[in-house]
Amino acid sequence: MERPSDLPRLYGELSEWWPLLSAPSEYEEEAHVYRTLLLAACEDPPRTLLELGSGGGNNASYLKSRFEMTLVDLSPEMLSVSRTLNPECEHLEGDMRSLRLGRVFDCVFVHDAIVYMLTEADLARAIETAFVHCRHGGAALFAPDLIKENFEPNTGHGGHEVDGRAAHYLSVSWDPDPEDDTYVSDYAYMLRERDGSIRVAHDRHVEGLFSRDVWLRLLYEAGFRPNVIPIDHGGEHGRVELFVGRKPTSEAGTAPS
Ligand SMILES: C[S@@+](CC[C@H](N)C(=O)[O-])C[C@H]1O[C@@H](n2cnc3c(N)ncnc32)[C@H](O)[C@@H]1O
Repeated sequence: MERPSDLPRLYGELSEWWPLLSAPSEYEEEAHVYRTLLLAACEDPPRTLLELGSGGGNNASYLKSRFEMTLVDLSPEMLSVSRTLNPECEHLEGDMRSLRLGRVFDCVFVHDAIVYMLTEADLARAIETAFVHCRHGGAALFAPDLIKENFEPNTGHGGHEVDGRAAHYLSVSWDPDPEDDTYVSDYAYMLRERDGSIRVAHDRHVEGLFSRDVWLRLLYEAGFRPNVIPIDHGGEHGRVELFVGRKPTSEAGTAPS
């Protein structure tokens, strides 16, 4: 599968450091929120869950106790990290803009990987992928880091040490052109091996930024019945807006005219 040349280094050559830069334990509270929203959005109790852009599988490590999960990511390296954490889940390589598995799931989840949709056209493709893989009466949940209305330049830091290896980062998010649909998160990683040797790496993540109205329109045009859910995760993640799309029970209620 062809891989975009602009996929951040973290999801390729640096992927082995993912669990130290972004530890599964940081996801427990938010995964609980996603689980609650997915259960509430589906007409019947859901069992199967497709996650698009599942990365290192940190959310999945909490969601898998409730759902039978299929995890899809563009990066073979990130799938490999996730397989170690979630050996019981199905893992598949695929692009959320074009994936067609030929089967449906009770619900679909797209977490922060949705930020790698840099144009409205690509965001619409990812939403369409969620729609065609969602059963009637099921739902899709999208959790972008930011929408246009709540973007602010920001700095962050984090990281962990495990068994003598350590990885820490400093991040700076900024918007070089407020007129377009993207912003930039620059990361400086400090990666320390057991022998004390240090590598410092810069990684630029270009991320999509769309307004609430664009989100709601694209979800509606795909055939979902959309809702915005404001959530306050507290701390660095702060206030976010999540989008839930319910897929109507019958074909008749699906496509907007
Ligand atoms: C921040 S990580 C996701 C982490 C995940 N939320 C977790 O719980 O571990 C973002 C992921 O999006 C993936 N990604 C980016 N563009 C994608 C695309 N078009 N289709 C599928 N995955 C994509 C990257 O390969 C990366 O693994």
